[in-house]
Amino acid sequence: MFRNLFKKFSKDVGVDLGTSNTLIYVKDRGIVVKEASIVAINNRTGQILAVGEEAQKMVGKVPPHITISKPLVDGIISDFEVTEKMLKYFIDRLYRESFGLSPRPRVVIGVPLDVTEVEKKAVEDVVLSAGARDVFLVENVIATAIGARMPIQDPSGNMIMDIGGGVTEIAVVSLSGIVAWKSLRVAGTELDQDIIQFTRNEFGLLIGERVAEEVKKNAGRLDEQGRPFEIKMRGRDLVTGLPREVTITTEQVSAAIQRSVGIIIEGVKSTLEITPPELVADIYQKGIIVSGGGSLLNDLDQAIARATKIPVRIIDDPITCAVRGMGLVLEDDRLLREVAVPSTHEDKA
Ligand SMILES: Nc1ncnc2c1ncn2[C@@H]1O[C@H](COP(=O)(O)OP(=O)(O)OP(=O)(O)O)[C@@H](O)[C@H]1O
Ligand SMILES: [Mg+2]
Repeated sequence: MFRNLFKKFSKDVGVDLGTSNTLIYVKDRGIVVKEASIVAINNRTGQILAVGEEAQKMVGKVPPHITISKPLVDGIISDFEVTEKMLKYFIDRLYRESFGLSPRPRVVIGVPLDVTEVEKKAVEDVVLSAGARDVFLVENVIATAIGARMPIQDPSGNMIMDIGGGVTEIAVVSLSGIVAWKSLRVAGTELDQDIIQFTRNEFGLLIGERVAEEVKKNAGRLDEQGRPFEIKMRGRDLVTGLPREVTITTEQVSAAIQRSVGIIIEGVKSTLEITPPELVADIYQKGIIVSGGGSLLNDLDQAIARATKIPVRIIDDPITCAVRGMGLVLEDDRLLREVAVPSTHEDKA
């Protein structure tokens, strides 16, 4: 049905299909899509009503005949059909006017570290059924490391951490290969859930996911006078059932997410424990590079640095780092061959 989708691209394409955000990079054009991975569907007609930010505005506000779907869970496709519709929507929007006949593109797309064969095939099928000439899978952490311009081809330890919406991945890369890694189901979305839980227990207030995410992003921020930002949350009082507003402090937010942050830090430590000592020595010297939207959490970089005694650096513009890396991979065929994960389609190998 969507076989011709990618035909509209004359250029090669990089796709970061994330749990929270989908980004698309087109060769020579740069990042052309940066949207929330959310789709609103009308159940009566099966039609897509909105995708991305537009659909995100509807979260928690829809009548029964509209479903809000997040087709990716923990970094993998959980709803194939909706994922395909979402990709089609983004691409159609870009290429509303016909560009005439252009060759079908090659597509580089990211996958998580613990991806199974079945999940790999699902990703390849989505991309191919959209009309790509060829699909190459690249591990998200590798794309991120390339986007961060880390010297991953050197015989030296490079530690990269990607804290996304659904997954946190930690990897040590040397000679373009992953030497040690950990994947955790604790990332940005889990922190939002922690805040919802805390607010329920501490204030007897039920808040929505969007409110919780805003609280998380604002925690630790200072106002113009250098004072801690007052974070107001509106929700439903669990006793009276009526709307109520409370103020949460940065300390309370820290307490709410403490356990999850601890799991992330433990993940870094346990990855270091399984890393060969020579590489650990390199990492001590070069530091840990952190990417993904979750890396923007107040004080997280410092907390990791304190716990590991290794310097930590957050990449500029962490949400786009992986897709920028895919863009670099598209520019360099040798690098592409070096980092591409073996395909599940035998005819391609
Ligand atoms: N300023 C901020 N402070 C804290 N968290 C943030 C901030 N900005 C974005 N985030 C969080 O980053 C997460 C999204 O990051 P990102 O786009 O890297 O994830 P993703 O690639 O879609 O997910 P995954 O890689 O897990 O599949 C969300 O949970 C979001 O709330
Ligand atoms: Mg990601």
